[in-house]
Amino acid sequence: MIEALDPQARRYAAAGVVALAWLAFSGLIAARQALRRRAERRAAATLAQGSGAPVLVAFASQTGFAEQLARATAQALTTAGAPVILRPLSTVTAADLAGADQALFVVSTTGEGDAPDSARAFLRDVMGAASDLSALRHGVLALGDRDYARFAAFGRTLNAWLAAQGATPLFDRIEVDDGDPDALALWRSRLADLTGAAQAADWNRPTCGPWTLTGRRLLNPGGAGGEAWHVRLEPADGVLDWVAGDLFEVVPDGAAAARDYSIASVPSDGGVELIVRLRHGPDGKPGLGSGALCRQAAIGDTVSARVRTNRAFHAPDTDAPMILIGAGTGLAGLRAHLKARAAQGRSRNWLLFGERTAAPDDFHRDEIEGWTASGVIARLDLVFSRDQSERLYVQHRLRAAAEAVRAWVADGATILVCGSREGMSQAVDAALVDILGADGLAALTDAGRYRRDVY
Ligand SMILES: Cc1cc2nc3c(=O)[nH]c(=O)nc-3n(C[C@H](O)[C@H](O)[C@H](O)COP(=O)(O)OP(=O)(O)OC[C@H]3O[C@@H](n4cnc5c(N)ncnc54)[C@H](O)[C@@H]3O)c2cc1C
Ligand SMILES: Cc1cc2nc3c(=O)[nH]c(=O)nc-3n(C[C@H](O)[C@H](O)[C@H](O)COP(=O)(O)O)c2cc1C
Repeated sequence: MIEALDPQARRYAAAGVVALAWLAFSGLIAARQALRRRAERRAAATLAQGSGAPVLVAFASQTGFAEQLARATAQALTTAGAPVILRPLSTVTAADLAGADQALFVVSTTGEGDAPDSARAFLRDVMGAASDLSALRHGVLALGDRDYARFAAFGRTLNAWLAAQGATPLFDRIEVDDGDPDALALWRSRLADLTGAAQAADWNRPTCGPWTLTGRRLLNPGGAGGEAWHVRLEPADGVLDWVAGDLFEVVPDGAAAARDYSIASVPSDGGVELIVRLRHGPDGKPGLGSGALCRQAAIGDTVSARVRTNRAFHAPDTDAPMILIGAGTGLAGLRAHLKARAAQGRSRNWLLFGERTAAPDDFHRDEIEGWTASGVIARLDLVFSRDQSERLYVQHRLRAAAEAVRAWVADGATILVCGSREGMSQAVDAALVDILGADGLAALTDAGRYRRDVY
Protein backbone atom coordinates (compact mmCIF):
# COMPACT_ATOMS: atom_id res chain seq x y z
CA MET A 1 0.00 0.00 0.00
CA ILE A 2 2.87 2.34 0.84
CA GLU A 3 4.14 1.93 -2.78
CA ALA A 4 0.86 3.46 -4.08
CA LEU A 5 1.54 6.77 -2.27
CA ASP A 6 3.57 9.73 -3.60
CA PRO A 7 7.16 10.01 -2.23
CA GLN A 8 6.25 12.70 0.36
CA ALA A 9 3.30 10.66 1.71
CA ARG A 10 5.47 7.53 1.65
CA ARG A 11 8.05 9.23 3.92
CA TYR A 12 5.29 10.26 6.36
CA ALA A 13 3.85 6.74 6.37
CA ALA A 14 7.28 5.16 7.02
CA ALA A 15 7.91 7.61 9.90
CA GLY A 16 4.51 6.67 11.33
CA VAL A 17 5.36 2.95 11.24
CA VAL A 18 8.66 3.61 13.05
CA ALA A 19 6.91 5.78 15.69
CA LEU A 20 4.26 3.09 16.26
CA ALA A 21 6.93 0.38 16.62
CA TRP A 22 8.80 2.58 19.09
CA LEU A 23 5.62 3.22 21.10
CA ALA A 24 4.83 -0.51 21.19
CA PHE A 25 8.39 -1.31 22.30
CA SER A 26 8.38 1.37 25.06
CA GLY A 27 4.98 0.14 26.20
CA LEU A 28 6.31 -3.39 26.42
CA ILE A 29 9.26 -2.27 28.55
CA ALA A 30 7.01 -0.17 30.82
CA ALA A 31 4.62 -3.09 31.22
CA ARG A 32 7.50 -5.44 32.09
CA GLN A 33 8.85 -2.95 34.63
CA ALA A 34 5.39 -2.55 36.16
CA LEU A 35 5.00 -6.35 36.34
CA ARG A 36 8.41 -6.67 38.01
CA ARG A 37 7.63 -3.92 40.51
CA ARG A 38 4.30 -5.61 41.28
CA ALA A 39 6.08 -8.99 41.80
CA GLU A 40 8.62 -7.30 44.10
CA ARG A 41 5.87 -5.51 46.03
CA ARG A 42 3.95 -8.78 46.37
CA ALA A 43 7.10 -10.61 47.49
CA ALA A 44 7.85 -7.91 50.05
CA ALA A 45 4.27 -7.78 51.27
CA THR A 46 4.22 -11.54 51.91
CA LEU A 47 7.25 -11.27 54.17
CA ALA A 48 5.84 -8.21 55.93
CA GLN A 49 2.61 -10.06 56.60
CA GLY A 50 4.63 -13.05 57.73
CA SER A 51 4.05 -16.04 55.46
CA GLY A 52 5.08 -18.13 58.45
CA ALA A 53 7.94 -19.88 56.67
CA PRO A 54 11.37 -18.93 58.00
CA VAL A 55 13.67 -16.81 55.84
CA LEU A 56 16.88 -18.62 54.94
CA VAL A 57 19.93 -16.40 55.45
CA ALA A 58 22.91 -18.13 53.82
CA PHE A 59 26.46 -16.83 53.84
CA ALA A 60 29.79 -17.62 52.19
CA SER A 61 32.76 -15.80 53.64
CA GLN A 62 36.53 -16.08 53.32
CA THR A 63 37.72 -13.60 55.94
CA GLY A 64 34.61 -13.24 58.06
CA PHE A 65 32.92 -10.03 56.83
CA ALA A 66 30.07 -11.74 54.94
CA GLU A 67 29.46 -13.98 57.93
CA GLN A 68 29.31 -10.96 60.23
CA LEU A 69 26.83 -9.21 57.90
CA ALA A 70 24.72 -12.38 57.60
CA ARG A 71 24.51 -12.57 61.39
CA ALA A 72 23.47 -8.91 61.56
CA THR A 73 20.90 -9.59 58.80
CA ALA A 74 19.46 -12.54 60.73
CA GLN A 75 19.38 -10.42 63.87
CA ALA A 76 17.54 -7.59 62.09
CA LEU A 77 14.91 -10.00 60.74
CA THR A 78 14.49 -11.73 64.10
CA THR A 79 14.06 -8.37 65.84
CA ALA A 80 11.37 -7.52 63.29
CA GLY A 81 9.55 -10.75 64.19
CA ALA A 82 10.44 -12.78 61.07
CA PRO A 83 11.55 -16.37 61.72
CA VAL A 84 15.06 -16.98 60.35
CA ILE A 85 17.36 -19.88 59.58
CA LEU A 86 21.01 -18.81 59.40
CA ARG A 87 23.28 -21.25 57.55
CA PRO A 88 26.69 -21.32 55.91
CA LEU A 89 26.16 -21.79 52.16
CA SER A 90 28.30 -24.94 52.40
CA THR A 91 25.45 -26.70 54.24
CA VAL A 92 22.64 -25.56 51.90
CA THR A 93 21.32 -28.13 49.41
CA ALA A 94 19.25 -27.75 46.24
CA ALA A 95 16.32 -29.27 48.15
CA ASP A 96 16.70 -26.60 50.88
CA LEU A 97 16.42 -23.89 48.22
CA ALA A 98 13.52 -25.53 46.39
CA GLY A 99 11.67 -25.87 49.70
CA ALA A 100 12.36 -22.33 50.96
CA ASP A 101 10.01 -19.44 50.50
CA GLN A 102 12.57 -16.64 50.79
CA ALA A 103 16.34 -16.73 50.93
CA LEU A 104 18.86 -13.96 51.49
CA PHE A 105 22.44 -14.64 50.39
CA VAL A 106 25.42 -12.73 51.79
CA VAL A 107 28.51 -13.82 49.87
CA SER A 108 32.00 -12.52 49.22
CA THR A 109 34.47 -13.09 46.40
CA THR A 110 38.06 -14.14 46.93
CA GLY A 111 41.14 -15.09 44.89
CA GLU A 112 40.63 -13.89 41.34
CA GLY A 113 36.87 -13.75 41.19
CA ASP A 114 36.48 -17.05 43.06
CA ALA A 115 33.91 -18.26 45.55
CA PRO A 116 35.15 -18.50 49.16
CA ASP A 117 36.82 -21.86 49.83
CA SER A 118 33.91 -23.00 51.99
CA ALA A 119 31.43 -22.42 49.13
CA ARG A 120 33.27 -24.44 46.52
CA ALA A 121 31.13 -27.53 47.15
CA PHE A 122 27.93 -25.46 46.77
CA LEU A 123 29.28 -23.99 43.52
CA ARG A 124 30.11 -27.42 42.18
CA ASP A 125 27.22 -29.55 43.45
CA VAL A 126 24.28 -27.17 43.76
CA MET A 127 25.06 -24.49 41.16
CA GLY A 128 26.47 -27.12 38.81
CA ALA A 129 23.00 -28.55 38.27
CA ALA A 130 19.57 -27.24 37.30
CA SER A 131 16.88 -26.83 39.98
CA ASP A 132 13.31 -25.63 39.89
CA LEU A 133 13.42 -22.60 42.18
CA SER A 134 10.25 -20.98 40.84
CA ALA A 135 8.79 -20.87 44.37
CA LEU A 136 11.83 -19.07 45.81
CA ARG A 137 12.20 -15.32 46.27
CA HIS A 138 15.72 -14.14 46.90
CA GLY A 139 18.01 -11.25 47.70
CA VAL A 140 21.78 -11.17 47.19
CA LEU A 141 24.35 -9.04 49.00
CA ALA A 142 27.55 -9.45 46.98
CA LEU A 143 30.74 -8.34 48.75
CA GLY A 144 33.86 -7.47 46.82
CA ASP A 145 36.42 -4.86 46.06
CA ARG A 146 36.61 -2.89 42.80
CA ASP A 147 40.41 -3.03 42.94
CA TYR A 148 40.06 -6.62 41.73
CA ALA A 149 39.41 -7.32 38.05
CA ARG A 150 36.40 -9.58 38.69
CA PHE A 151 34.38 -7.45 41.09
CA ALA A 152 31.86 -9.33 43.26
CA ALA A 153 32.07 -12.19 40.77
CA PHE A 154 30.73 -14.93 43.00
CA GLY A 155 27.69 -12.88 44.11
CA ARG A 156 26.97 -12.02 40.49
CA THR A 157 27.28 -15.65 39.38
CA LEU A 158 25.07 -16.83 42.22
CA ASN A 159 22.45 -14.18 41.42
CA ALA A 160 22.43 -15.13 37.73
CA TRP A 161 22.13 -18.81 38.59
CA LEU A 162 19.18 -18.16 40.93
CA ALA A 163 17.41 -16.19 38.18
CA ALA A 164 18.12 -18.94 35.65
CA GLN A 165 16.48 -21.47 37.99
CA GLY A 166 13.31 -19.38 38.03
CA ALA A 167 13.72 -17.67 41.43
CA THR A 168 12.17 -14.20 41.77
CA PRO A 169 14.31 -11.34 43.10
CA LEU A 170 12.88 -9.63 46.18
CA PHE A 171 14.96 -6.62 45.03
CA ASP A 172 17.97 -5.96 42.80
CA ARG A 173 21.30 -7.49 43.81
CA ILE A 174 23.27 -5.15 46.09
CA GLU A 175 27.04 -4.97 45.60
CA VAL A 176 29.36 -3.78 48.35
CA ASP A 177 32.69 -2.30 47.28
CA ASP A 178 35.15 -2.68 50.17
CA GLY A 179 32.55 -2.34 52.93
CA ASP A 180 30.85 0.68 51.28
CA PRO A 181 28.52 2.06 54.00
CA ASP A 182 25.97 3.35 51.43
CA ALA A 183 25.53 -0.14 49.97
CA LEU A 184 25.14 -1.60 53.45
CA ALA A 185 22.57 1.07 54.30
CA LEU A 186 20.65 0.11 51.14
CA TRP A 187 20.63 -3.56 52.22
CA ARG A 188 19.36 -2.58 55.67
CA SER A 189 16.62 -0.49 54.10
CA ARG A 190 15.65 -3.44 51.84
CA LEU A 191 15.38 -5.61 54.96
CA ALA A 192 13.21 -2.94 56.57
CA ASP A 193 10.99 -2.89 53.42
CA LEU A 194 10.67 -6.65 53.62
CA THR A 195 9.65 -6.81 57.24
CA GLY A 196 7.83 -3.51 57.50
CA ALA A 197 10.01 -2.73 60.53
CA ALA A 198 12.18 0.32 61.07
CA GLN A 199 15.66 0.16 59.50
CA ALA A 200 18.21 -1.61 61.70
CA ALA A 201 20.87 0.58 63.28
CA ASP A 202 24.02 1.26 61.27
CA TRP A 203 26.29 -1.74 60.78
CA ASN A 204 29.50 -0.47 59.43
CA ARG A 205 32.57 -2.48 60.25
CA PRO A 206 33.07 -2.77 64.02
CA THR A 207 35.03 0.02 65.57
CA CYS A 208 38.73 -0.17 66.20
CA GLY A 209 40.46 0.70 69.44
CA PRO A 210 43.91 1.92 70.43
CA TRP A 211 46.75 -0.64 70.45
CA THR A 212 50.18 0.31 71.74
CA LEU A 213 53.30 -0.63 69.78
CA THR A 214 55.41 -2.48 72.37
CA GLY A 215 58.06 -4.17 70.25
CA ARG A 216 59.63 -4.20 66.82
CA ARG A 217 62.56 -6.20 65.45
CA LEU A 218 63.96 -6.49 61.93
CA LEU A 219 63.89 -10.19 61.04
CA ASN A 220 66.14 -10.05 57.96
CA PRO A 221 68.82 -7.35 58.21
CA GLY A 222 70.27 -6.85 54.75
CA GLY A 223 67.77 -9.25 53.16
CA ALA A 224 67.23 -8.89 49.43
CA GLY A 225 63.47 -9.45 49.52
CA GLY A 226 62.45 -6.31 51.41
CA GLU A 227 62.51 -5.71 55.15
CA ALA A 228 60.36 -8.05 57.22
CA TRP A 229 59.61 -6.90 60.76
CA HIS A 230 58.37 -8.72 63.81
CA VAL A 231 55.91 -6.26 65.35
CA ARG A 232 54.20 -6.49 68.71
CA LEU A 233 51.15 -4.54 69.90
CA GLU A 234 49.10 -4.60 73.09
CA PRO A 235 45.49 -3.43 73.45
CA ALA A 236 44.81 -0.36 75.59
CA ASP A 237 41.76 -2.10 77.09
CA GLY A 238 43.81 -5.20 77.98
CA VAL A 239 41.38 -7.53 76.16
CA LEU A 240 43.28 -10.39 74.51
CA ASP A 241 40.68 -12.41 72.65
CA TRP A 242 41.44 -14.27 69.45
CA VAL A 243 42.38 -17.71 68.20
CA ALA A 244 45.11 -18.88 65.83
CA GLY A 245 44.09 -18.01 62.28
CA ASP A 246 42.53 -14.64 63.11
CA LEU A 247 43.55 -11.37 61.48
CA PHE A 248 44.62 -8.02 62.86
CA GLU A 249 42.99 -5.10 61.06
CA VAL A 250 44.93 -1.84 61.20
CA VAL A 251 43.49 1.49 60.08
CA PRO A 252 46.51 3.62 59.18
CA ASP A 253 46.23 7.40 59.49
CA GLY A 254 45.03 8.85 56.19
CA ALA A 255 43.99 5.50 54.71
CA ALA A 256 40.47 4.99 53.36
CA ALA A 257 40.60 1.24 53.96
CA ALA A 258 41.94 -0.98 56.72
CA ARG A 259 44.95 -3.28 56.18
CA ASP A 260 44.84 -6.92 57.31
CA TYR A 261 47.74 -8.75 58.95
CA SER A 262 47.82 -12.41 59.97
CA ILE A 263 48.25 -12.72 63.72
CA ALA A 264 51.45 -14.60 64.58
CA SER A 265 50.82 -15.07 68.30
CA VAL A 266 48.24 -16.48 70.74
CA PRO A 267 46.58 -14.55 73.60
CA SER A 268 48.84 -16.16 76.23
CA ASP A 269 51.73 -14.26 74.59
CA GLY A 270 50.14 -11.12 76.06
CA GLY A 271 49.94 -9.24 72.77
CA VAL A 272 49.36 -9.46 69.07
CA GLU A 273 52.53 -10.23 67.12
CA LEU A 274 52.77 -9.75 63.37
CA ILE A 275 55.28 -10.34 60.60
CA VAL A 276 55.08 -7.30 58.35
CA ARG A 277 56.85 -6.74 55.03
CA LEU A 278 57.66 -3.08 54.45
CA ARG A 279 56.05 -2.13 51.12
CA HIS A 280 56.82 0.88 48.98
CA GLY A 281 54.60 2.67 46.49
CA PRO A 282 55.69 3.62 42.96
CA ASP A 283 56.83 6.98 44.40
CA GLY A 284 59.21 5.14 46.72
CA LYS A 285 57.25 6.12 49.83
CA PRO A 286 56.52 3.38 52.39
CA GLY A 287 53.01 1.86 52.22
CA LEU A 288 50.48 3.37 54.60
CA GLY A 289 49.97 0.26 56.74
CA SER A 290 53.35 -1.40 56.59
CA GLY A 291 55.10 1.99 56.78
CA ALA A 292 53.21 2.89 59.96
CA LEU A 293 53.98 -0.45 61.61
CA CYS A 294 57.59 -0.85 60.47
CA ARG A 295 58.75 2.80 60.40
CA GLN A 296 56.63 5.73 61.52
CA ALA A 297 55.10 4.51 64.76
CA ALA A 298 57.55 4.67 67.68
CA ILE A 299 57.55 2.22 70.56
CA GLY A 300 54.81 3.44 72.94
CA ASP A 301 52.73 5.04 70.14
CA THR A 302 49.21 3.81 69.52
CA VAL A 303 47.60 2.66 66.30
CA SER A 304 43.91 2.17 65.62
CA ALA A 305 43.22 -1.53 65.12
CA ARG A 306 41.10 -4.53 66.01
CA VAL A 307 41.16 -8.30 65.90
CA ARG A 308 39.06 -9.81 63.11
CA THR A 309 37.73 -13.35 63.32
CA ASN A 310 38.81 -15.37 60.30
CA ARG A 311 36.95 -18.66 60.62
CA ALA A 312 38.16 -19.90 57.23
CA PHE A 313 41.66 -20.16 58.72
CA HIS A 314 40.84 -21.55 62.15
CA ALA A 315 42.11 -25.05 62.87
CA PRO A 316 39.72 -27.94 63.30
CA ASP A 317 39.68 -29.08 66.94
CA THR A 318 41.38 -32.43 66.45
CA ASP A 319 44.53 -34.33 67.33
CA ALA A 320 44.88 -35.31 63.67
CA PRO A 321 48.11 -34.17 62.00
CA MET A 322 48.61 -30.75 60.40
CA ILE A 323 50.64 -29.72 57.36
CA LEU A 324 51.53 -26.03 57.54
CA ILE A 325 52.75 -24.45 54.29
CA GLY A 326 53.86 -20.86 53.82
CA ALA A 327 56.42 -18.43 52.51
CA GLY A 328 57.67 -15.03 53.61
CA THR A 329 55.27 -13.18 55.90
CA GLY A 330 53.00 -16.23 55.63
CA LEU A 331 54.99 -17.65 58.52
CA ALA A 332 52.87 -15.37 60.72
CA GLY A 333 49.62 -17.35 60.50
CA LEU A 334 51.50 -20.66 60.70
CA ARG A 335 53.39 -19.53 63.81
CA ALA A 336 50.11 -18.81 65.65
CA HIS A 337 48.89 -22.30 64.77
CA LEU A 338 52.16 -23.92 65.86
CA LYS A 339 51.96 -22.06 69.17
CA ALA A 340 48.36 -23.24 69.67
CA ARG A 341 49.29 -26.83 68.73
CA ALA A 342 52.27 -26.76 71.12
CA ALA A 343 50.00 -25.54 73.96
CA GLN A 344 47.50 -28.31 73.16
CA GLY A 345 50.23 -30.95 73.14
CA ARG A 346 49.43 -31.77 69.51
CA SER A 347 52.69 -32.77 67.97
CA ARG A 348 52.12 -34.21 64.50
CA ASN A 349 52.94 -30.98 62.67
CA TRP A 350 54.82 -30.66 59.39
CA LEU A 351 56.11 -27.17 58.56
CA LEU A 352 57.10 -26.32 54.99
CA PHE A 353 58.44 -22.77 54.91
CA GLY A 354 60.08 -20.90 52.08
CA GLU A 355 62.13 -17.70 51.86
CA ARG A 356 64.95 -16.41 49.69
CA THR A 357 68.19 -17.17 51.52
CA ALA A 358 68.91 -18.98 54.80
CA ALA A 359 70.89 -15.96 55.92
CA PRO A 360 69.23 -13.62 56.74
CA ASP A 361 65.70 -14.78 55.81
CA ASP A 362 65.39 -17.66 58.27
CA PHE A 363 62.70 -15.85 60.28
CA HIS A 364 62.28 -17.15 63.85
CA ARG A 365 64.91 -19.84 63.32
CA ASP A 366 65.57 -20.39 67.07
CA GLU A 367 61.91 -20.92 67.77
CA ILE A 368 61.48 -23.30 64.83
CA GLU A 369 64.56 -25.28 65.90
CA GLY A 370 63.21 -25.39 69.46
CA TRP A 371 59.89 -26.81 68.26
CA THR A 372 61.71 -29.35 66.12
CA ALA A 373 63.88 -30.44 69.07
CA SER A 374 60.87 -30.71 71.39
CA GLY A 375 58.85 -32.67 68.83
CA VAL A 376 56.12 -30.06 68.21
CA ILE A 377 57.38 -30.01 64.61
CA ALA A 378 57.60 -33.62 63.50
CA ARG A 379 58.86 -32.77 60.02
CA LEU A 380 60.53 -29.57 58.89
CA ASP A 381 61.24 -28.49 55.32
CA LEU A 382 62.92 -25.12 54.94
CA VAL A 383 63.21 -24.13 51.30
CA PHE A 384 65.48 -21.22 50.42
CA SER A 385 64.89 -20.34 46.80
CA ARG A 386 68.21 -18.63 46.10
CA ASP A 387 70.62 -20.81 48.05
CA GLN A 388 71.35 -23.05 45.05
CA SER A 389 71.72 -22.53 41.32
CA GLU A 390 68.14 -23.50 40.46
CA ARG A 391 65.22 -21.67 42.05
CA LEU A 392 63.39 -23.90 44.56
CA TYR A 393 60.10 -23.04 46.26
CA VAL A 394 57.76 -24.76 48.72
CA GLN A 395 55.69 -26.18 45.87
CA HIS A 396 58.78 -28.01 44.54
CA ARG A 397 59.50 -29.51 47.96
CA LEU A 398 55.84 -30.46 48.26
CA ARG A 399 55.93 -32.32 44.94
CA ALA A 400 59.14 -34.07 45.93
CA ALA A 401 57.44 -35.22 49.12
CA ALA A 402 54.22 -36.31 47.37
CA GLU A 403 54.25 -39.77 48.94
CA ALA A 404 54.50 -38.33 52.45
CA VAL A 405 51.79 -35.74 51.72
CA ARG A 406 49.42 -38.54 50.67
CA ALA A 407 50.30 -40.55 53.78
CA TRP A 408 49.69 -37.59 56.12
CA VAL A 409 46.38 -36.79 54.41
CA ALA A 410 45.32 -40.44 54.64
CA ASP A 411 46.09 -40.12 58.34
CA GLY A 412 43.58 -37.26 58.62
CA ALA A 413 45.88 -34.25 58.19
CA THR A 414 44.53 -30.74 57.71
CA ILE A 415 46.54 -28.56 55.30
CA LEU A 416 46.99 -24.87 56.18
CA VAL A 417 48.46 -22.43 53.67
CA CYS A 418 49.45 -18.86 54.56
CA GLY A 419 51.17 -16.11 52.57
CA SER A 420 51.22 -14.58 49.14
CA ARG A 421 48.53 -15.71 46.75
CA GLU A 422 50.21 -15.13 43.42
CA GLY A 423 53.74 -15.99 44.40
CA MET A 424 52.99 -19.07 46.46
CA SER A 425 49.48 -20.31 47.18
CA GLN A 426 48.45 -20.78 43.54
CA ALA A 427 51.56 -22.90 42.89
CA VAL A 428 50.94 -24.87 46.10
CA ASP A 429 47.33 -25.40 45.06
CA ALA A 430 48.46 -26.75 41.66
CA ALA A 431 50.99 -29.05 43.37
CA LEU A 432 48.30 -30.36 45.73
CA VAL A 433 45.99 -31.04 42.78
CA ASP A 434 48.78 -33.10 41.19
CA ILE A 435 49.52 -34.94 44.43
CA LEU A 436 45.97 -35.60 45.67
CA GLY A 437 43.96 -35.29 42.46
CA ALA A 438 41.43 -32.51 41.84
CA ASP A 439 38.68 -34.57 43.47
CA GLY A 440 40.92 -35.43 46.41
CA LEU A 441 41.70 -31.76 47.07
CA ALA A 442 38.03 -30.80 46.59
CA ALA A 443 37.01 -33.44 49.13
CA LEU A 444 39.61 -32.11 51.55
CA THR A 445 38.29 -28.55 51.06
CA ASP A 446 34.69 -29.69 51.61
CA ALA A 447 35.74 -31.43 54.82
CA GLY A 448 37.36 -28.20 56.08
CA ARG A 449 40.79 -29.82 55.90
CA TYR A 450 42.31 -27.39 53.36
CA ARG A 451 42.31 -23.88 54.80
CA ARG A 452 44.01 -20.80 53.48
CA ASP A 453 44.92 -17.29 54.54
CA VAL A 454 46.36 -15.92 51.31
CA TYR A 455 46.66 -12.40 50.02
C1 LIG B 1 44.03 -11.65 54.62
C2 LIG B 1 45.30 -10.84 54.53
C3 LIG B 1 46.37 -11.11 55.37
C4 LIG B 1 47.55 -10.37 55.26
N1 LIG B 1 48.59 -10.67 56.08
C5 LIG B 1 49.74 -9.98 55.96
C6 LIG B 1 50.87 -10.29 56.81
O1 LIG B 1 50.78 -11.17 57.70
N2 LIG B 1 52.00 -9.57 56.65
C7 LIG B 1 52.13 -8.59 55.68
O2 LIG B 1 53.17 -7.97 55.58
N3 LIG B 1 51.07 -8.28 54.88
C8 LIG B 1 49.89 -8.95 55.01
N4 LIG B 1 48.84 -8.61 54.19
C9 LIG B 1 48.99 -7.48 53.26
C10 LIG B 1 48.64 -6.17 53.99
O3 LIG B 1 47.28 -6.15 54.34
C11 LIG B 1 48.88 -4.92 53.14
O4 LIG B 1 48.25 -5.07 51.89
C12 LIG B 1 50.35 -4.62 52.92
O5 LIG B 1 50.99 -4.41 54.18
C13 LIG B 1 50.52 -3.36 52.07
O6 LIG B 1 49.80 -2.31 52.67
P1 LIG B 1 50.43 -0.84 52.81
O7 LIG B 1 49.36 0.02 53.40
O8 LIG B 1 51.74 -0.89 53.48
O9 LIG B 1 50.70 -0.47 51.31
P2 LIG B 1 49.81 0.46 50.39
O10 LIG B 1 49.95 1.88 50.86
O11 LIG B 1 48.45 -0.10 50.30
O12 LIG B 1 50.57 0.20 49.05
C14 LIG B 1 51.96 0.52 48.90
C15 LIG B 1 52.56 -0.28 47.76
O13 LIG B 1 52.63 -1.67 48.09
C16 LIG B 1 52.09 -2.44 47.04
N5 LIG B 1 51.47 -3.61 47.64
C17 LIG B 1 50.43 -3.62 48.50
N6 LIG B 1 50.15 -4.87 48.87
C18 LIG B 1 51.01 -5.67 48.24
C19 LIG B 1 51.22 -7.06 48.22
N7 LIG B 1 50.46 -7.90 48.95
N8 LIG B 1 52.22 -7.55 47.45
C20 LIG B 1 52.99 -6.72 46.72
N9 LIG B 1 52.83 -5.40 46.71
C21 LIG B 1 51.86 -4.87 47.45
C22 LIG B 1 51.08 -1.54 46.38
O14 LIG B 1 50.85 -1.90 45.05
C23 LIG B 1 51.77 -0.20 46.48
O15 LIG B 1 52.67 -0.02 45.42
C24 LIG B 1 47.67 -9.34 54.30
C25 LIG B 1 46.57 -9.06 53.48
C26 LIG B 1 45.41 -9.79 53.58
C27 LIG B 1 44.26 -9.45 52.68
C1 LIG C 1 43.00 -12.46 48.78
C2 LIG C 1 41.77 -11.68 48.42
C3 LIG C 1 41.25 -11.79 47.14
C4 LIG C 1 40.09 -11.06 46.76
N1 LIG C 1 39.60 -11.19 45.49
C5 LIG C 1 38.53 -10.45 45.12
C6 LIG C 1 38.02 -10.52 43.78
O1 LIG C 1 38.51 -11.23 42.92
N2 LIG C 1 36.92 -9.77 43.46
C7 LIG C 1 36.33 -8.93 44.38
O2 LIG C 1 35.36 -8.27 44.04
N3 LIG C 1 36.79 -8.85 45.66
C8 LIG C 1 37.87 -9.58 46.05
N4 LIG C 1 38.35 -9.49 47.33
C9 LIG C 1 37.71 -8.56 48.27
C10 LIG C 1 36.72 -9.28 49.21
O3 LIG C 1 35.65 -9.82 48.49
C11 LIG C 1 36.19 -8.26 50.21
O4 LIG C 1 37.26 -7.82 51.02
C12 LIG C 1 35.08 -8.82 51.07
O5 LIG C 1 34.56 -7.79 51.87
C13 LIG C 1 35.60 -9.95 51.97
O6 LIG C 1 34.50 -10.57 52.59
P1 LIG C 1 34.76 -11.87 53.53
O7 LIG C 1 35.55 -11.39 54.70
O8 LIG C 1 33.39 -12.32 53.93
O9 LIG C 1 35.46 -12.92 52.74
C14 LIG C 1 39.47 -10.21 47.71
C15 LIG C 1 40.00 -10.11 49.01
C16 LIG C 1 41.13 -10.83 49.37
C17 LIG C 1 41.69 -10.69 50.76
